[in-house]
Amino acid sequence: MIIKKAELETVCGITSTFPENTDPEIVFAGKSNVGKSSLINSLMNRKSLARISSQPGKTQTINYYKVNDDLYFVDLPGYGYANANLATKEKWGKMIEKYLHTSKQIRCIFLLIDIRHEPGKNDKQMYDWIVYNGYQPVIIATKLDKLKRSQVDKCVKIVREGLGLPKEGVLIPFSSQTKQGREEVYEFIENLLAE
Ligand code: GTP
Ligand code: MG
Repeated sequence: MIIKKAELETVCGITSTFPENTDPEIVFAGKSNVGKSSLINSLMNRKSLARISSQPGKTQTINYYKVNDDLYFVDLPGYGYANANLATKEKWGKMIEKYLHTSKQIRCIFLLIDIRHEPGKNDKQMYDWIVYNGYQPVIIATKLDKLKRSQVDKCVKIVREGLGLPKEGVLIPFSSQTKQGREEVYEFIENLLAE
């Protein structure tokens, strides 16, 4: 996949109406701080088009990046951000839920999980909820650079088991620092779009 062009096209907040796009949407979901915006930047080959922060809760809107004039990368706010107050958390949750319910162009949902940790209760809930809505999430296990190579297999197994991923479920270990896994993600998207 060659990225010729990438731009932020639409930003949706809690009160926004979602755009009725006609091009396919590739969605990135996951806990706050897991690396969604960093992954999108590395896929788009841009350092900071998607804003990233070491503070969780950076992305608070649904951001649509138009790629090559023919598809979208959709950056969702993270769930499970402990410091947000309850009302805010609920609003973000509702916004994510509404998006996943109403968009007719979702081609794939990548669910990001930190490769170092056993999936939390809200990761499992998100996974189940995506499945319940008729999508098979593709797992991207982020921050691969933080592991020693000898730890990778064991950690992948913990993530797969923690989510209850079926045997045929796809999990791609990824690092936005080293770009490991990027080709696999591109390939997965290309195959989807070719279907
Ligand atoms: P929210 O917008 O708050 O939901 O977070 P996010 O999921 O978009 O995470 P973001 O991309 O902003 O990254 C959060 C922090 O993790 C930043 O400090 C990033 O630099 C760091 N980070 C993201 N991906 C990686 C990675 O692959 N390796 C390492 N070492 N750090 C990463
Ligand atoms: Mg973000």
